[in-house]
Parts: sequence; structure tokens; C-alpha cells
Amino acid sequence: MTTAPSATRTALVTGAAVGLGRTIADRLARAGDRVALLDVDAGRLAQAEEELCGEGHDVVAVTCDVRDRDAVEAAVAQVVDRWGGLDVAVSNAGVAGARLLLDMDAEEWHRVVDINLTGTFHVITAAARAMIATGGGGAICCISSGAALFARPAAGHYCTSKAGVLMLAKALALETGRDGVRVNVVTPGLVDHGYREGLGEFVPAAYAQMMRDNTPMGRLGTADEVADAVQFLCSAQAEFVTGAVLSVDGGSSAGKYTVPWG
Ligand SMILES: NC(=O)c1ccc[n+]([C@@H]2O[C@H](COP(=O)([O-])OP(=O)(O)OC[C@H]3O[C@@H](n4cnc5c(N)ncnc54)[C@H](O)[C@@H]3O)[C@@H](O)[C@H]2O)c1
Repeated sequence: MTTAPSATRTALVTGAAVGLGRTIADRLARAGDRVALLDVDAGRLAQAEEELCGEGHDVVAVTCDVRDRDAVEAAVAQVVDRWGGLDVAVSNAGVAGARLLLDMDAEEWHRVVDINLTGTFHVITAAARAMIATGGGGAICCISSGAALFARPAAGHYCTSKAGVLMLAKALALETGRDGVRVNVVTPGLVDHGYREGLGEFVPAAYAQMMRDNTPMGRLGTADEVADAVQFLCSAQAEFVTGAVLSVDGGSSAGKYTVPWG
């Protein structure tokens, strides 16, 4: 049972340079895990590594584009060589997009689907193989999105990619359960993680306000709340949880938030 809290665990997080990935990596490192930070943005990744090493944590930065299967396999092999195994893998790297499906060219479709879905396939299969090869047992967590559960306009590629991540994780959970490798998914609602000014180019203020208004709890999520869910799913407290989807969205996915009828 490699997810037991007693031993120092080895973890990897993709998209760890900024945003949710950075918060998740911080959380795991501060809880005592050795953490490999994977990201395509070498500059910001080096900064994250420096900051976490400065706090005394055992972390390593590996520049890696999740679209490149060989690069992902090499990154996982590097982590196993360095620390002797892999206990936790968080597939978080992802990009958004704003284009109507009828206006979408193949390049824009592939930009989003290749990173979010195919990249996740590369990361979680490489991680699961490494976990099994080094003795079995481990926890994989995929960061999907509320967009996997409800379609929205001008995000068909994003919604499709994130829905694909749900099924991919469930399928892998079936295949790795007997090896003790658990695979779960977190679907965050809109999170203001503070790394993007004004929530970024894909999240106009009016959209963010609409999301607040339509969320039963009346606010956006925080990166720490997403990290809480990831930490739980990757912990011994979730030892019998696999193939599960945990929404961290203030109730957004419970139903369509409307004024009461009558
Ligand atoms: N922020 C939100 O509101 C929100 C809500 C639901 C789901 N999510 C999901 O959470 C994840 C993180 O989102 P975020 O808001 O922190 O994003 P972000 O843009 O702030 O950070 C994403 C990170 O992924 C890295 N990345 C991008 N392409 C990559 C690639 N090809 N290979 C490796 N790394 C790559 C980026 O360099 C960046 O460091 C994404 O999968 C996103 O879809 C975010």
C-alpha cells in the first residue's frame, strides 16, 4: 500500500509551474512528499522549483510537453531513477479555448484536445506502468473540469477533452485496480487561482460573475479547495476509492441553479 502516510512518497504533478498545478505541487511537497514538477514552461517551472527548494522540500523540475509521449515516458523514468518509484501522479496540465465549433479549424481543435486528453493519456498510462513495475500500488488523480459534465458554447473542444478525461480515468481504473493503482478525477468549477490577471483571457469578468450567480454556494472556488480534494483522493483515507469523480464546484453540477418555482 504505497499511498500510506508513513513512508515518504514520490509524486509528480503536470502543469506544475503555475495555477492549480502549482498549488497542488506545493500542497504535496509541504505534506512531505518528494515532488517532480512537470511543465512545458521552463522559466516558470525553474522559479517554482527554486521557491519550493528554498522552503527545504525535495522537488525536481522536469521540462516536458505532455503531448510528447516519449518525453513523458522519459520524465517518469527520470523520477523513478531519482527516487526509486512513483506513488502519486496528478495529471493537471491543460489549456482552455474560446471558439465556436462551427468556426473551429483543426489546429485549434488539436491544440486543446492534444494537451488535455491525449496528454492525460500519456501521463497516466506512463505513471501507472511505473507504479506497477516498481511493485504496484499508487494513486493517480486527473484534473478534469465541470465542463466535462455540462456543455457550454464556444468550448466544445474543451468540454469534449475534459469529458474524455473522465472516461479515460475510469477505464484505467478498471485495468489497474488489481495492481492497487487507483485512478480518480476532480472536476473543479471555475477557480480564481490568482496566477492570471482578471482570471485570464478566456474568462471575462461577466462570465465569472455569471458563474458566481449560478453556483449554489455563490462564489468561485479556490486552488486550495481543489488541492484538498486531490490530497484526499491520493491519500490512505481514499484507499478504496477508484474510478470516482469528485466535483469541487460549490454545487454547480448538482443541477441548474434557478429561482424557485412558484
Ligand atoms: N482554473 C480553473 O478555473 C479551472 C477549472 C476547471 C478545470 N481546470 C483545469 O485545471 C487545470 C489547471 O488549470 P489552471 O487554471 O491552473 O491553468 P493555467 O493556465 O494557470 O496553468 C496550466 C499549466 O499547464 C502548463 N501546460 C500547458 N500546456 C502544457 C503542455 N503541453 N505540457 C505541459 N504543461 C503544459 C502551463 O505551462 C501552465 O503552467 C487544467 O487542466 C484546467 O483545464 C481549471
